[in-house]
Amino acid sequence: RELTAANTLGLPCHAERFASPVAIEPLRRLLRLADDLSWPLTVLGGGSNLILPERLPGLVLRPALRYWWLEPQEGSVLVHVGAGVEWHPLVMALAGRGLWGTENLALIPGSCGAAPIQNIGAYGVELCEVLEAVHVMFIEDGRCARLTVEECAFGYRDSIFKGELEGKVIVTGLTLRLTRVPHPRLGYGDLAQRVGPRPGPLEVAEAVCAIRREKLPDPAELGNAGSFFKNPIVERRQAEEMLLSWPDMPHFELADGRVKLAAGWLIDRCGLKGWRSGHFGIHERQALVLVHFGGGSAEELLAFARQVATEVEARFGVVLEREPRLA
Ligand code: EPU
Repeated sequence: RELTAANTLGLPCHAERFASPVAIEPLRRLLRLADDLSWPLTVLGGGSNLILPERLPGLVLRPALRYWWLEPQEGSVLVHVGAGVEWHPLVMALAGRGLWGTENLALIPGSCGAAPIQNIGAYGVELCEVLEAVHVMFIEDGRCARLTVEECAFGYRDSIFKGELEGKVIVTGLTLRLTRVPHPRLGYGDLAQRVGPRPGPLEVAEAVCAIRREKLPDPAELGNAGSFFKNPIVERRQAEEMLLSWPDMPHFELADGRVKLAAGWLIDRCGLKGWRSGHFGIHERQALVLVHFGGGSAEELLAFARQVATEVEARFGVVLEREPRLA
C-alpha cells in the first residue's frame, strides 16, 4: 500500500500491510493478529506531523472510528469524538453550532486521534485546555482505558503519548468540554483586529483560517508538516543576553520564569526564509515550515533540517528541536 498521499509531507512510503479499522473490536482483533504474527506496528493519524521512511514493514494501522455526538451538561457540552474524525471539519461544525472552545484551533490538519499526541496548539489555545478525557486501547492486551487530562501529562507540543505511553497505546477517541457561554480568546497576534465586536465562535474560527492561509502552505499544493521545529525554551539569562544583541527578538515569558523564543524568527534572521536546497526548502512566508517540492526522501529532509538547525545554533547558540515524529 502506497502511503505517499497519506502523509502531508508527500514523502514516498510503501507499507507492507495497511488496515483502517472502523470500530473497537476490529481494532482489537488486528492488534492480536499483529502480535501473533510478530508484525511490527505503526499507527497513523492524518499523517500531518509525521516523517515516513521509504518502507514500513509489518502492519500500518489508521484508526477510522468516525462517530461524534454531543452530550449537553449543566453549563457545558461534552463532545464525544472518534479518533478517525478529521479535526478541522469537526472544529467548524462545533463552531457553527455556537460552541466555544476549539475555534482557535481551526485549520490544523490531521485526525482527532492524533491531536492529543502533540497537544495541538495555535493562537493562544492548546487542546488540553478543552479536553476532558482521552480514550485509548493498550496494544499489549487490547484493554480500553479513559485517561483524564492530568494523566496525559500535557505540555507545550508534548504529552504522555510521546513519553511513557509511546508505542503502548492507540488513541481511540476524545471527550472535549465546550461551552455556549461566549468565551473568545483573541489575545494572540492580530486576531482581535480580524473580528468584529462580540464575535461568535464561527467568526473567530474563520479569522484563524484566514490568518493560517496567509502564512502556511496548503499540504495539498506543497508538501509540509506545519511547524518543523518547536519554539525553543531558554533560561531567562540567555534570553536577556540575546535581547541585548537583538532587541526586536519575539519572546514570551513562561510561568516558570523561562522564556519561549520564536524558531521562525531565528531561522528567518539567519537569512534562510525561501532558501531551497535539492528537493526541500524553507517556506517563503513562514520560516518555521519546511516544504517538500517533490522527489525527495526522509534522509534528505532530515539532512536539510540539520543544516537549518546548525545555522541557527551557530548564530544564536539555541538548539532547535524537531516537531514532527519519525514513524
Ligand atoms: N516570525 C518571523 N519570521 C518567520 C516566522 C515567524 O519573524 O518566518 C516571527 C513572527 O513575526 C512572530 C513570531 O516569529 O513575531 C511568531 O510567529 P507566529 O505567530 O507565526 O507563530 P510561530 O511561533 O511561528 C506557532 C506554532 C504554530 C501556530 C502559531 C500560531 C509552534 C512550533 N508553532 O508558530 O503551529 O499555528 O504559533 O499560534 O509552536 C504547527 O505546530 O504546525 C503550527 C503551525
